[in-house]
Amino acid sequence: MHVKVAATSGSKDLFVTRISSTSVNAVSAICTHQSCTLNKFMTSSQQYGCPCHSSRFNADGSVAQGPATTALSSYTGTVTATGADFTIA
Ligand code: FES
Repeated sequence: MHVKVAATSGSKDLFVTRISSTSVNAVSAICTHQSCTLNKFMTSSQQYGCPCHSSRFNADGSVAQGPATTALSSYTGTVTATGADFTIA
């Protein structure tokens, strides 16, 4: 799921994935190479792809293929009865 999260300074575009009944993982939806918005998660390769210069990122945000050299920011959260809570710095 691609969501925009309000933050104390601006907002963040994130991909959020539920990884268990009690936890979720989120990674930035913005490529670390030149800031293009990534395509949604590709289940066939288990990666996010960048449409601009073809970088690929693993589900945890690590770089699978350049030209990007920096991992996506990643966050973990807890699923609660009312939704999911994240702490984003
Ligand atoms: S902006 Fe994503 S690979 Fe260049």
